[in-house]
Amino acid sequence: MHVATDRADASTIIWDDFCGLSPREKGRYLLTPGGQVQSFLYSQQLDRPLLDHLIALAEIVRTRRNDERFGAHLKTLLGTKSGALYFTQPSTRTFTSFSLAARAAGMMCEEIRDPEMSSLYKGESEIDTLLTLAELADAVIMRQGDHSLIDRFAFEVAHRGLETRILNGGSGSEQHPTQALLELYTIVSYLDLESGDPLTVGIVGDLKRSRTARSLSYLLALYPQIRHRFIAPEELQMGDDLTEYLDDNGIGWQRDESLDEAIPELDAIYMMRMQDEYGETSEATRLKYAQFRLTTERAAKLKPTSIILHPLPRRDELPIELDSDPRARYWEAVNRGKYVRIALLLHMFGKDDVEGLRAY
Ligand code: NCD
Repeated sequence: MHVATDRADASTIIWDDFCGLSPREKGRYLLTPGGQVQSFLYSQQLDRPLLDHLIALAEIVRTRRNDERFGAHLKTLLGTKSGALYFTQPSTRTFTSFSLAARAAGMMCEEIRDPEMSSLYKGESEIDTLLTLAELADAVIMRQGDHSLIDRFAFEVAHRGLETRILNGGSGSEQHPTQALLELYTIVSYLDLESGDPLTVGIVGDLKRSRTARSLSYLLALYPQIRHRFIAPEELQMGDDLTEYLDDNGIGWQRDESLDEAIPELDAIYMMRMQDEYGETSEATRLKYAQFRLTTERAAKLKPTSIILHPLPRRDELPIELDSDPRARYWEAVNRGKYVRIALLLHMFGKDDVEGLRAY
């Protein structure tokens, strides 16, 4: 079991003060009395030991996926718990993956995807809707267009001393930490991160508004040997808040405007689609986004040992022809997402005894 020791008392802190804290500091208020993560909002809440622990747990569950005896045991671990999925932005992978992960660990699940069908329609505030779910369910798994909502919700739950677990399935253009977890789980399965040898990860496309790009970069910052190359049109470059975080943590990074120049040096490439739901739809043409497509010609310049990732859904930045490229790992990453989410849920409820599960 992984427990943190520096839990802070959330009953005395007020919202304004909580708001001013860094994600890492907020994380101290978002732990259970037992030291597990109670609300998982930000990649920065994880440290290396917890990350390694979650990946080890996910790998046990993944490799035993066809073992009926193990599967039956897994279902008992969270068999007394219930979950509410509250997704007010579109989702295919994250929603299905969380829903199946929760059920695989025995949780009963309810879902709200259309706010018109909840009391929001009658004028209830979203925070009251969420507090209702917190009273009814043991875990609230959520996705929404405005990041500040999950922050406020996690604060209220912690401040009121509620036991509800909160999981971020995507918050505005800010964070998507479980997506980062599944990408990282895939990266460690193919690249050698243990030796400490230098590696370069290229993150390509609309970095300004991609929560998946941000969450992965924060998580990769736990590996000091990884250099981050942000490859994007100038207007869509990675925000200064993130690069300042990398500087503060002694992580190497650079901004690039040419994918063609950067591509031969990358050990992993993480492709992003244009996030035009947060802007105008004509941006792709105006910003010459075609230069940031991973065409088969460009992929030919990528090292044979590299891996290709994409959070999906994709558009034309990643052609379907690349799916059969041996370096393509994005479909497999979708699959790993379910196992790492099972691992996370087990951890958050203190059912994360790696040795016990391995021996079962
Ligand atoms: C992403 C998201 O919703 O942020 N998808 C996902 O969860 N796998 C990526 C995107 O929408 O571009």
